[in-house]
Amino acid sequence: MSKPDIDYSRVTVVDHPVVARDLTILRDKQTPPQLFRLALRRIGIILAYHSLKALPTQEIEVETPIKKAGGHEFATNVVAVPIIRAGLGLVDAVTTFIPEAQIGHLGMYRDENTHQPVDYYSNLPSGLEKAMVLIVDPMLATGGSACDSISFVKEKGAKDIHFMCLISAPEGINRLQREHPEVPIVTAAIDDHLNEQAFIVPGLGDAGDRYFGTD
Ligand code: PRP
Repeated sequence: MSKPDIDYSRVTVVDHPVVARDLTILRDKQTPPQLFRLALRRIGIILAYHSLKALPTQEIEVETPIKKAGGHEFATNVVAVPIIRAGLGLVDAVTTFIPEAQIGHLGMYRDENTHQPVDYYSNLPSGLEKAMVLIVDPMLATGGSACDSISFVKEKGAKDIHFMCLISAPEGINRLQREHPEVPIVTAAIDDHLNEQAFIVPGLGDAGDRYFGTD
């Protein structure tokens, strides 16, 4: 169901039976890490497929065994930027399609009391200004981590920035669209709201803990 105050022209909510089934597996608190990882990988591939739709191409010519044929190659590099930790689970999804993609890392965790993102690590490749930069994180809750990450890659020169997440809260989408309106979002679900601890409701709990088997 569509939510008020969301600019749907800048959000793709992927609606697909295999996504719906995998989302259910991910939400289920009984799902063990080994199955959680597999479901996240499958959904990630579909989200990456949709996110990469914006990748510019240029025409080239190849020789088939029969004759010359028109084809396409990517016109820019792709830099995938997982927000550590949980975003690491979505990197494979991007490299499934773009094995040559560069991977930047942004380490960020949310302070449990203030709910503000705390940066603890960054390592980004050079040349961001010419690349399609795809920031990946399973959860978009308050939007603090996503917005800080986007600001960070902008400071490093990135211009073509995209954000891909599994589950988002309306609050996070609103904030991201307010602070970075030009950044397209691809997500598998927009959930109901955030609770007092700023957890997405119904959500799936802490994606990092569930993916890595920590608590
Ligand atoms: C989670 C999630 C996002 C962030 C979303 O990370 O993976 O990075 O919170 O919340 P926000 O939109 O309110 O910023 P977490 O802090 O649990 O760190 P982890 O990935 O290391 O578990």
